[in-house]
Amino acid sequence: MTAAIAADEIEAEADRLLRALLHVDCDPRGKTWNYEACRAIAPLTLEINRLKKEKDAVILAHSYVEPEIIYGVGDFKGDSYFLSLAAKQARAKVIVFAGVVFMAETAKILSPDATVVVPDRGSGCSLADSIDGDGVRKLKALYPDATVVCYINSTADVKAESDVCVTSGNVYHIIENLPARRILFVPDRLMGQNVRDELRRRGVDKEIITSDGTCLVHDQFSVADIAAARAQFPGLKVVSHPECTPEVAAVSDFVGSTGAMMKYVKTTGAPYYLMLTECGLVGRLQVEAPEKNFIGGCRLCPYMKLNSLEKVRDALKSPRPDQIITLDEDVRRRAARCIERMFELSPAD
Ligand code: 13P
Ligand code: SF4
Repeated sequence: MTAAIAADEIEAEADRLLRALLHVDCDPRGKTWNYEACRAIAPLTLEINRLKKEKDAVILAHSYVEPEIIYGVGDFKGDSYFLSLAAKQARAKVIVFAGVVFMAETAKILSPDATVVVPDRGSGCSLADSIDGDGVRKLKALYPDATVVCYINSTADVKAESDVCVTSGNVYHIIENLPARRILFVPDRLMGQNVRDELRRRGVDKEIITSDGTCLVHDQFSVADIAAARAQFPGLKVVSHPECTPEVAAVSDFVGSTGAMMKYVKTTGAPYYLMLTECGLVGRLQVEAPEKNFIGGCRLCPYMKLNSLEKVRDALKSPRPDQIITLDEDVRRRAARCIERMFELSPAD
């Protein structure tokens, strides 16, 4: 396949990639996105983009995966809420989810007739892997009157046991507006604490009971790091994700989903930004807001970084059984109800 691609086509593709990736300089592999680097991957992005047409496939890419996937072959890029909507609306025969397994499961729940594939089956998530359906059933037995809210970073069987799903973009709004006072929130303990604090600020009286998961990326950021950065960079804006600790959230200038974090940076003027999230988001901002200055601080998600162009190509060309998402139909239907409820209760924007 690769040998059949004409040299001028490869050069045009390398130019396209270079225009997109030129400003990305936070690559954890130490890669510099110059013409040579873009030319080296151009045959592969061309091959993947051709395979997409042949197979009637779309690629959904979370903002944390490598920039050459997002900008080289991604059809939809964004946060978990945006990508779950994209999965629901996708009319393609094949969905390749460049993200992590729970996201691909969500796509399968919402597009059951599509073949949903994941580039690397090992792309777990410390939150999703912290509790299973059985664990939720045990908690429900302890709190039978609670409404069960699951963060989208959870497995299909956890969603099947839950009343409503939320993402980092709608969690405050949805929980605030649920009729129940007692909420059982799984699996993110820190996000649950942030919800508790935010609802208190809004004067909303709810009891939030949480399970004990945390994100291994976001629970690393500390108040001391923020204080040191503020001392060194006057005018700095600290932008964090609700998976961070409540202490970090309390001293941040903005807290929101990765989509909301991007919007905040693009629409505010500050000399420097400290992004307390996975480094991939800084890469996206360097592409889409190259005039902004980011100081160090972001961290890598080892699961998201298991994605690569080669694995995307292989999953698309001839997926191995372990790359294909399959779900028990009863679990899928119950999980779909929980996610559909989220779409009904989400704020309009
Ligand atoms: P969002 O992109 O929905 O904010 O989620 C962040 C995350 O950690 C996904 O795993
Ligand atoms: Fe899970 Fe955290 Fe990685 Fe997101 S960044 S996939 S929450 S481990």
